[in-house]
Order: sequence, then C-alpha cells, then structure tokens
Amino acid sequence: MPCWVLLLVGLGLLLLLQKWALLRLGSSLPGPWAFPLLGNAQMVGKLRPEFIFLVFTELRDRFGATYRLWLGPQLWVFLHTAEETREALHDPTLRKAKTFLQLEPLIGNGLLISHGSHWTQQRRLLTPAFRPTLLRSFAPSVAKHADRLIQRLEETRGSFLEVTDPLFACLLDAIVDTSMGEQLETQSVAHSPIIKAFHRSSQLLFKRMINPLLASDWVFKQTRLWRELSEQLQVIHTLMDSLIDRRSAQLQQQGNEPRKALNLLDTLLLANIDGEPLSRKEIRDEINTFVFAGVDTTTAAMSFVLYALAMNPEAQDRLQEELRQLPPGISIDLDTLNELPYLDALLKEVLRLYTIVPTTGRQTTRSTVIGGRTYCAGVTLWINMYGLAHDASYFPDPYVFKPERWMQETELQAEVPFSYIPFSGGPHVCIGRRYALLLMKLLTARIARAFQLELRPGQPELTLQAQMVLKTREGIHLAFTKR
Ligand code: HEM
Repeated sequence: MPCWVLLLVGLGLLLLLQKWALLRLGSSLPGPWAFPLLGNAQMVGKLRPEFIFLVFTELRDRFGATYRLWLGPQLWVFLHTAEETREALHDPTLRKAKTFLQLEPLIGNGLLISHGSHWTQQRRLLTPAFRPTLLRSFAPSVAKHADRLIQRLEETRGSFLEVTDPLFACLLDAIVDTSMGEQLETQSVAHSPIIKAFHRSSQLLFKRMINPLLASDWVFKQTRLWRELSEQLQVIHTLMDSLIDRRSAQLQQQGNEPRKALNLLDTLLLANIDGEPLSRKEIRDEINTFVFAGVDTTTAAMSFVLYALAMNPEAQDRLQEELRQLPPGISIDLDTLNELPYLDALLKEVLRLYTIVPTTGRQTTRSTVIGGRTYCAGVTLWINMYGLAHDASYFPDPYVFKPERWMQETELQAEVPFSYIPFSGGPHVCIGRRYALLLMKLLTARIARAFQLELRPGQPELTLQAQMVLKTREGIHLAFTKR
C-alpha cells in the first residue's frame, strides 16, 4: 500500500479517536438525520432568522427531549428541562459558547463573553453600579428621556408608525445618560450616525455568527462584511473614547476630594485592581458591553410591551385603571411603580411570551454531568429559554397572553424553578435585570398614561425572528392617540 494512503488512513483514525467521545455522545442523543461529515450544517446554514426559530421549536416538540444537531464536526445539544438548565447555568466548568466570542471586535473581553478569574473580577467590580439605591437615583433622568419620546409620539398625531427606532433612540439616550452621565440626544436628530453604527454592527456580527463559513478570523477579515464592520466600529470607538476622556478629565480636576462613583463609567474609572487602574481599552470594552447588551434588549422588550397593550385592549384598560388609581399629581417614581401589581404581571408575561433572548449557549471544556448525562469536552450546549417559556407543562396555554398567571389571585403561576428565566440564571444572570425593569416600568407607565394605543388595521400576525434578540420580520406599527 502506498505511503500516502497509509498516512491518510492513520490521520483518519487519529481524528476518529479524538472525536470518539463526541461521536458516541452524539449518536446516543435523538436528533434529525445527519449527512456524513456535513451533519445538519446544510439545514442550519440555509435557515432564515424566522425559520431558525420555528425549526428549533419544532425539533423540541418532535423529539420531546434533549436533542442534538451536528454542524460538521461540531456537536450542538439543546437542553430540554428546567432542571437540566439549572444545572448547566451553575456548572463552573462551562464557558460561553464559542459563537459569542465573535462579538470581540465590539465588546472586547467585556463581561458578556469573558470567563474565569477575569470575569469574576469584573463582575465583582461592576455589581455595585447596579445597586438599588443607585438605580433609584436614575429615575429622573430616565423620565426626562421618556418625556422626550412622548413628545415625539405626540407629534405623530395618531398616525401609524413603526415603534422600534424611536424606542431605540430613547433607550440609547437614557442608558448612556445614566451609565456615563452624557447627553447623546439621538432623539433630537433625524439620522444619528451612532445609532446607525450600533444597528449595523449588530447586524454584521450576527451575519457572521450564523455563517459557519465565516468562523475563521482570517477568512472573515478578507470579506466586505469585515470592512464595513470596521468602519462602523470606528464610529462607536471614537465616540466612546471621547466620552471616557471627558469624564476622566472631570474626575482628575476633583483632585484629592473623595470621589464617589455616580454611575458605571465612574466605577470603571475609579477602579483599582491590584493597585493598577483599568486600561482605556478595558473601560471601553465594558461600556460597549453594557450599551450593546442593554439597548437592543430593552428596545425589543418595550416594542413587545406596546404591541401586547395594543393587541389586548382589556389589558390596556386594566393597566390604565391601575395608573388612574394613583393619587393625582403624584410623580411616578420607582417606588410607586413597584407597588403596581398589574404592571408587574404584564411585564413578566411579555418577557415570557416574547422571550427577548430566546437562547444562550455554553461550551463544555472538560467532562461534566448535566441531567444525569455525561458530556465530554467540546460540546456546545444551547439553553432554550424560549422553549422553556412555551412549554405547556410549565405554563398552561403557553401561546396565550395572560398577565393574570403572574398575579397572586390565580394559581396558574409556574412554580418550577428555572422554567422562567428571561434574564438567564446562575452566576451569569443578567447584571442589568433590575435596571431593565426600571426602564420598562417607567416607560410603560408614562406611555400608557399619555396615550391610547392602537394596532394598524390588517397588521399581519407577527413573524418572530431569533436574531441576537427576538425581533419581528414586519416591524410593529402602532398609533398613539392622546388621552
Ligand atoms: C429586557 C432586557 C434584558 C434582557 C431580556 C436581558 C437578558 C440577558 C440574558 C438572558 C443574559 C444572560 C446570557 C447568558 O447567560 O449567556 C444577560 C446577560 C447580561 N446582560 Fe442582560 N438583559 C436585558 C437588559 C440588560 C441591560 C439593561 C443591561 C445593562 C445595561 C444588561 C447587561 C447584561 C450583561 C453585562 C450581561 C452579562 C452578564 C454576565 O455574563 O456576567 N442586560 N442578559
């Protein structure tokens, strides 16, 4: 037999040996038929965002258990139960899924994708920037940006508009104001370059994440996508650097006065780790992480809140009734809003029905046991928050909008731990969850007090798309009529 044939056979056997554990695990799990070598890559690669969603939900229903997909040599496993999910989210040997590391050009080694001791250190450092007393002090700034949004909605005089862009501008302004103390005023300009830069970068990064052919950095950097992404990132990095410089100079001017962190940027600028301040890049990475993780998610969540109100007039009436009960003239601050049970139930139900982050992924780094099954290193585990939130055994009538299921007066509320995790759970639980709820409560209450919301006649049923956050294909078109 010629040497090259022997060499090929040898290499093949070596590869088989290396992948043996993975192959054995994959073949023990149910899943759709997979082509030799390609696996299910052809099927996944061709899926449009709206079908990714449908197919994963259908596979969950079809296999009724934890199932697998092969993406060439990569094994993807979709966890099924709340208990498996709890175990995975607490497993210290797992890291964020490799796909998420492709966000690096925008968020560097920020909290969202870092791991190990770096993540522990950053999480400990940043947690105080989300303490309840500080969040409460943000309410007046958020209210200011919400009022600007209401003014913009009033100017539409009851005609229909797509709500995502105005919400995005409002939330970007509010988040930058409260986390950096800066006024971007994107709500006051028709075409903001920074909004375009964030939108486009997210789109381009997502395009790469769902295309296995662009996984290699070298390949990606040869493409037109990378060139456009670099241009958009330049806009973001230049702006963020200038905001960081400005605040840093202000803090220096305060000299030896005791300096107190008033927001996230201050926390980062005043941080001292082993006697060393954070580098400029580390600060910018964390700021970009918060803007990236915070604005798109809260925009999507608020779009679905407004849609749900317009779609369910009885829910809109009940919320308005609850707001009417407040003593006249009272400023609706956070403490007042936290006392409103229907508002609370409504937001919980929106976050369940429209699971804003439908899935998140983890990578096994060594052998570990989850749900009684042993997983070897190199498996991507998908935590299906959407699947859990729409599982009839946890939530009866899972596709029906029913805020009442969260109210004490009914027994419908799910009691199974980790079946309802819109903000994930375990050590990586969303650090901004209370902040997100503050933004959502303030905006929802102000908008519901000011307007009657109406759906565009003939608006087709929403086609949900699983992008980095949940989106709709046709947008959400509503009319806001002054009360
Ligand atoms: C409705 C709004 C939001 C939703 C549904 C949401 C959801 C999530 C989820 C599911 C995760 C966990 C991802 C994982 O386990 O892999 C997460 C993590 C994170 N979120 Fe949020 N989020 C929201 C708002 C925010 C806001 C407003 C901020 C900050 C301003 C924020 C910052 C972060 C950060 C930094 C992480 C990473 C935490 C870590 O790994 O330690 N999020 N979020």
